[in-house]
Amino acid sequence: MSQNPIPVILDCDPGHDDVMAILLAAASERLNLAAITTVSGNGPIDKVTQNALKFCTLAGLTNIPIAQGATHPLIGQSHAATEIHGESALDGVALPESTIALSKFSAVQLMAQIITESPVPVTIIATGPLTNVAQLLRTHPELHSRIRSISIMGGGTERGNWRPLAEFNIWFDPEAADIVFTSGLDIYLCGLNITHQVLITPEIFTRLENIDSHLSRTIVPLMRFFAHAYDTTFGMPQPPLHDPIAVLMVSHPELFTFAHVPVAIEKDGTHTRGATVIDLHRVTDAPNNAYVAIGVDVPAFWDLMIEAVATISE
Ligand code: BDR
Ligand code: CA
Repeated sequence: MSQNPIPVILDCDPGHDDVMAILLAAASERLNLAAITTVSGNGPIDKVTQNALKFCTLAGLTNIPIAQGATHPLIGQSHAATEIHGESALDGVALPESTIALSKFSAVQLMAQIITESPVPVTIIATGPLTNVAQLLRTHPELHSRIRSISIMGGGTERGNWRPLAEFNIWFDPEAADIVFTSGLDIYLCGLNITHQVLITPEIFTRLENIDSHLSRTIVPLMRFFAHAYDTTFGMPQPPLHDPIAVLMVSHPELFTFAHVPVAIEKDGTHTRGATVIDLHRVTDAPNNAYVAIGVDVPAFWDLMIEAVATISE
């Protein structure tokens, strides 16, 4: 195993599960979280950016540059996930005002700068719509060879959550997702088939409460809000913690089973726009373009997630 931490950029739309992804990435000794970039998704760009700034302030993660990205998908309008994340996109607790200055660069500019200057290839972890990542790939083809991989939370091998066959992040900007999945880069995908196994159970709430720190006393009400929203909207009282799994695929790939298969993004379907069409059973001879997670060690994930909250609380 490489001793040097992997440089990563976390492109996100915080978001309850996005902030947990920030914590997992920031705490991992296997990763160097070089930047956080925001994208319109769970809420409008100004709200999700404020959430990133405020949450990182609260967690004491004040040395990670944060840059703001796309205000809307490549085509069409933004659609906030208010049902799940509330009006602020991170409802459930009042966060402190930010003491972190927003980067003067845009998300794409900051990503390009970090990738250009890094001595080793950089991994992008995307836990929101893929608008920023697609814009980066489109405007900086010269940087493709300096991107180690792109690790994505989105889609799924079976069901959707925003449409019967479409998951929110991909549904929000299918044109961007198509650009990313046809880029020829190494793509790792964790979809709802995996993240719906990663549930915040009563036992997990107890473990978070037992940390009993300023940070955990913020996270618990956030996760309670998320649980209530998932119960009300989807009839799932134990909500899935989607986004940290995209971090885990980079820091601990050994905890997964992957299938290297063809993945296409449906852009035109009357009922299926935003679906990830994953040829898991290889009924076509399309080229394999993504490593799709089909198994994960859930208890090992929770040990790392709980440890991350405890470590950052110290
Ligand atoms: C994804 O959509 C968002 O609401 C979550 O933050 C996650 O990234 C799950 O479908
Ligand atoms: Ca997200």
